[in-house]
Amino acid sequence: MDFNKTRYIPMSKRRRIYEGKAKVLYEGPEPGTLIQHFKDDATAFNAQKHEVIDGKGVLNNRISEYIFTNLNNIGVPTHFIKRLNMREQLIREVEIIPLEVVVRNIAAGSLATRLGIEEGTTLPRSIIEFYYKNDALGDPMVSEEHITAFGWANPQEIDDIMALAIRVNDFMTGLFMGVGIRLVDFKIETGRLYEGETMRIVLADEISPDSCRLWDAKSNDKMDKDRFRKDMGGLVEAYTEVARRLGILMESENVVHTGPKLVV
Ligand code: TMP
Ligand code: ASP
Repeated sequence: MDFNKTRYIPMSKRRRIYEGKAKVLYEGPEPGTLIQHFKDDATAFNAQKHEVIDGKGVLNNRISEYIFTNLNNIGVPTHFIKRLNMREQLIREVEIIPLEVVVRNIAAGSLATRLGIEEGTTLPRSIIEFYYKNDALGDPMVSEEHITAFGWANPQEIDDIMALAIRVNDFMTGLFMGVGIRLVDFKIETGRLYEGETMRIVLADEISPDSCRLWDAKSNDKMDKDRFRKDMGGLVEAYTEVARRLGILMESENVVHTGPKLVV
């Protein structure tokens, strides 16, 4: 399939497949593809807190594109095909596994609270946790026993998911360390990609400062969605700084005003 010749379907004619808190999925131009649209909505605490933050969607689209492209290049399978415009990317349709997979390197957030470990403590090794993706239940933490007993994934798939999570962690830890950022923890989602008779587990959804904890290596300043969760302000500035350090945003680019640009 030649994805360079993607047909443009006007927004009003597209079929909406799914709307989440921060993204919308539309039917794609070819069978087996979808368009993933990044909104400016920020939510926390299972959407009890909600705000529209101008420019967040554009930044997450770019940052996630950069990370998924690099992962594809090192052989980590993902759903990502290509970025289409400021807010959208073309992706492969996958069957989402209903798990939020969290990888932690440094104690923070719910782990620090639940186990009484001081925030900022380096963990003895990276820890993988599973949460059942279910908003009505508030995404409860589950074990491999629950996952296999309820048929959300089988033991082989859990092994594949954990191997994928570790590869993503190794790659991202190095990537961010190289630009003076500590990867504290992050969340990924995975899906089943069917290709003829075969099926494999691939990385899906997004990886952005919405789904990671990123601390400046020198100051420990938060450069992620905790700025919104904790009412600290400066979210777009922090995400812009992440994009700038990764070298994916030109100094002159302004993500807040995403309407048609005046050409002078
Ligand atoms: P937690 O410490 O609140 O459990 O979060 C762990 C990581 O997962 C952190 O990087 C933020 C991310 N995360 C999401 O992406 N979505 C969520 O719904 C939650 C609760 C956390
Ligand atoms: N994404 C979740 C929500 O909206 C929670 C979070 O990221 O903190 O509610």
